[in-house]
Amino acid sequence: MTRLHAEHLTLAYEQTTVATDLGVEIPDGSFTVIVGPNACGKSTLLKALARMLKPKAGGVYLDGRLISAYRSREVARRLGLLPQTSIAPNGITVGDLVARGRYPHQKLLKQWSSEDEAVVTESMRLTGVLDLADRLVDELSGGQRQRVWLAMVLAQQTSILLLDEPTTFLDIAHQVEVLDLCADLHEDGGHTLVAVLHDLNQACRYATHLIVMRPGGVIAAQGDPSEIITAGLVEEVFGLPCRVIDDPETGTPLIVPNRRVRKSEHDRPVAVHEHAAL
Ligand SMILES: Nc1ncnc2c1ncn2[C@@H]1O[C@H](COP(=O)(O)OP(=O)(O)OP(=O)(O)O)[C@@H](O)[C@H]1O
Ligand SMILES: [Mg+2]
Repeated sequence: MTRLHAEHLTLAYEQTTVATDLGVEIPDGSFTVIVGPNACGKSTLLKALARMLKPKAGGVYLDGRLISAYRSREVARRLGLLPQTSIAPNGITVGDLVARGRYPHQKLLKQWSSEDEAVVTESMRLTGVLDLADRLVDELSGGQRQRVWLAMVLAQQTSILLLDEPTTFLDIAHQVEVLDLCADLHEDGGHTLVAVLHDLNQACRYATHLIVMRPGGVIAAQGDPSEIITAGLVEEVFGLPCRVIDDPETGTPLIVPNRRVRKSEHDRPVAVHEHAAL
């Protein structure tokens, strides 16, 4: 059994059932990537794995015990979550927000150590936000803010990291930088990473284990991207006709959507000026 796995999960919000009887196993030391169409349940699964959402049935197991049996601080020392959306407290600086990642490590009497300080600085350096330390989080660009949240999760220094769309808002160079950083953590640091990504080609490049979810919180396929990704699977899960070729740089699957076929005159949307003329 792996350090983090779930059995027979039913995940639901008040009105919506997102998944039933969902089982998932995160290979230890893997860079696991979850892909799937909008609203299929990726974030919901991540929240359940991080104990932010209580399953209606089934259980999540962390290091051999039900995750619900741990104290929160104990979960936070083992596992860090970067949620899809986070709201920073009003008027907080970058440095102070990243420092919050150290809370699970603080002792009752000894409040803030030089080690805490060093970890916070290193986390900001790794994510390229050190220069922003004194800025207000509210006043950052979307991409800068995303990297600050990532720094906060890194400062938590957990061996398992769950990252929900860590590359949202980032330009292509920063996307690659963040994914490279994740790959380094996984390769050098022995971390277990689970990331939700929308870019299938990046997912195929970086994932050592790929989980493809379909609507209804169902796992359509999982495994090595080169073994599971086919045009048929992409069309079935995303409804997108495409070709799959070898990525010229890495040899991993590269998904190329089919060219657009012009809709017939009948189907095309009516332009605004045509509306006016009607
Ligand atoms: N807090 C909530 N309350 C009620 N329903 C929710 C809540 N959060 C998500 N849902 C619903 O649960 C379903 C799964 O949502 P989820 O956020 O897990 O999707 P996702 O796969 O992460 O999508 P995306 O790619 O858009 O982030 C959706 O139908 C969504 O509307
Ligand atoms: Mg989501």
